[in-house]
Amino acid sequence: MANLLDRWTYRTTPTVVFGRGCLDELPDHVRRIADGPVLVVTDRGLLEAGVVERVTDVLADAGIDAEVWYEVEPEPPTDSVDACAEAIHQTEPAVVLGLGGGSAMDTSQIAACVVTNGGRAEDWIGVEVVRKPGVPTISIPTTAGTASEVTGNAVMVLPDRSNKMTVVSPYIYPQTALIDPALTDSVPPHITAATGMDTFCHAAESFITKRATQHTRQPAADAMRRTLEFLPRAVADGTDREARDQMSYACLQAGYTLANAGVILVHGLAHAIGARAGIPHGVANTLCLLPVMRLAAEQNPALMAELAEPLGVSPDVSDETERAQAGVAVMERLVDQVGLPTRLEEVGVQRAWLPDVAAATLTNTRVADNSPVQPNAAELTSLLEGIY
Ligand SMILES: [Fe+2]
Repeated sequence: MANLLDRWTYRTTPTVVFGRGCLDELPDHVRRIADGPVLVVTDRGLLEAGVVERVTDVLADAGIDAEVWYEVEPEPPTDSVDACAEAIHQTEPAVVLGLGGGSAMDTSQIAACVVTNGGRAEDWIGVEVVRKPGVPTISIPTTAGTASEVTGNAVMVLPDRSNKMTVVSPYIYPQTALIDPALTDSVPPHITAATGMDTFCHAAESFITKRATQHTRQPAADAMRRTLEFLPRAVADGTDREARDQMSYACLQAGYTLANAGVILVHGLAHAIGARAGIPHGVANTLCLLPVMRLAAEQNPALMAELAEPLGVSPDVSDETERAQAGVAVMERLVDQVGLPTRLEEVGVQRAWLPDVAAATLTNTRVADNSPVQPNAAELTSLLEGIY
């Protein structure tokens, strides 16, 4: 692992604006990028909840025209991203504004690149395949979870629904991320739990990837500590503003490390399961977190003992194996506290799918190769059997 003073590369969104109420600053950030109309890319739920209006009102007050495309689909398939690209093509905005959870932000970021690069969304799957910058984007998250606003990765479901695949490119980063925790205040408990667990998985997984550096471990550790303390509070009481603010900040920190150190087989399995079963990303991650971490504790206790510190395991537990196990126990408690499903059967996954899920997971070599443990397809299948 690279130390702080070794060589490393770090990427993030050029302008990150954070803080309760910072939505007010949106017009300044639009104008800094371009003088022209905005296309808001969002979903119908946020439109009906009045969240889109809050954003378009801020723009209108500043004399900035905005149109709204509200057809974003959850866990977006590639053809939905193509439809968004077509909307951008038709409306010719100066800035595309992704408003929502990961699905809305990812859709906007890939579609903006499709417009300038040509072809279809599926053509740009892979690492650094996109050839040139997209239409300028701003990302505004309405959940504390995916951190799409500060990552150069955007995810889509393949047309045959066999897996989710990622467009990885410096051009996927928005020009500006505007993170106003007030937009998360009305998120219901089960979505708060699922998105918050996504944040936790970004932090915990990225801490132990092969690409992790001391530089990426610092925000990862910070995100884990905050999530352990504040996610249960945000789930229990959505009006707890401190918990909301802390989770938005934890999400941001986890996004910094996710974008630069990547994730492992928790996300790898979750993508393959989520694509087939159509379950929310954070729910799928929560299902896969414990089996993958238990396997890592078994096969690489030295590494998992390092993860124990940000998980709050007492320094008095000095034995490597015991520290690794104690860390897993902390994660088991968190999963229990947030009250999400823990069995695949509960979320509509069919037992017959498991070998295909395992095989699809291993085709995602970017994630599989970054993992500190390397189970084969049969081992992955039995891991999934264990949580069926
Ligand atoms: Fe994620």
